Amino acid sequence: MKIVVIGKSGQLANELQKLCAGNIISCLGRNEICITSYSDMCSVLDQYLPDAIINASAYTAVDKAETESTEAYLLNEHAVTNLAKYCAAHQIHLTHVSTDYVFGGDKGAPYLVDEPYNPQGVYGASKAAGEKVLQAICPHNSCIIRTSWVYSGHGVNFVLTMLRLMAEKPELGVIDDQIGSPTSAKALAKACLYAAQNKVPGIHHFTDSGVASWYDFAMAIQCLAIEKGMLQRAIPIKPIPTSAYPTAAKRPSYSVLDKSTLAQAFNGLQPGYWRAELSAVLDEIHGAASN
Ligand SMILES: NC(=O)c1ccc[n+]([C@@H]2O[C@H](COP(=O)([O-])OP(=O)(O)OC[C@H]3O[C@@H](n4cnc5c(N)ncnc54)[C@H](OP(=O)(O)O)[C@@H]3O)[C@@H](O)[C@H]2O)c1
Repeated sequence: MKIVVIGKSGQLANELQKLCAGNIISCLGRNEICITSYSDMCSVLDQYLPDAIINASAYTAVDKAETESTEAYLLNEHAVTNLAKYCAAHQIHLTHVSTDYVFGGDKGAPYLVDEPYNPQGVYGASKAAGEKVLQAICPHNSCIIRTSWVYSGHGVNFVLTMLRLMAEKPELGVIDDQIGSPTSAKALAKACLYAAQNKVPGIHHFTDSGVASWYDFAMAIQCLAIEKGMLQRAIPIKPIPTSAYPTAAKRPSYSVLDKSTLAQAFNGLQPGYWRAELSAVLDEIHGAASN
């Protein structure tokens, strides 16, 4: 089976490459394929003749999207339309990744896969628009995997930012009134690969199990990093409200995703507990830094 992954330098694409060691997947970055132009995109995909496509690319700059909505929609809606059209025309399965930020955050209980959209910012709205076009164009041969709070040892993410700040700063304030589920990009990559290889249909939620605030997440990073010898000392970390850390984009205050469809659609897949996944990723980061 040949799988083309759209995206190359991102967190998810990176984990997919590590998982497959180049055997069955080809990862195409923006220098190799322009998914915002239908004709350019088709001419590249026609050379690969994939059996399935995983879209690991997205405009992911949540705050910048507020002032760059054209760019956000170009990648998160228009490019998804192009991919969906190509997949529908060639009967190729498309796995597409979306976000908890398509929801409003005021439900107070885990979001089911079919809850109404209520994005709080441009990024979430552009991702919701991408989901809608995909469902309209390619409803039976596509899988939308919504996820949240993705991190890895690569790229720009909360874990790497916290490790840097914890080494540099005398103290930190971290938001404690936004609740979600941290997700290791490696675990997400395994779910995406399963979806592509098994042509899983429909919308599903995949995150690591358990919930946390950003404050809980930061505390766990510090605790584990000290245990592993990655940080020399603990700094005071203060829980702060969202109002004390203004950002351009509004974020959902509670965006835990219900994962009950996974058991059936992903052959009993059980996501690992977020703290255990975090510990494994920190080991990887530590190992890479020591080599
Ligand atoms: N990060 C999170 O916390 C989070 C949370 C919820 C959902 N998600 C979703 O999970 C998926 C994977 O996220 P991620 O964290 O792996 O993203 P990421 O690290 O920000 O990577 C984004 C990818 O998009 C590609 N890309 C960006 N601009 C592009 C453009 N103009 N043309 C072509 N490709 C472009 C990049 O491709 P190049 O290789 O060419 O640079 C890169 O591979 C996305 O769909 C995202 O919306 C992420």
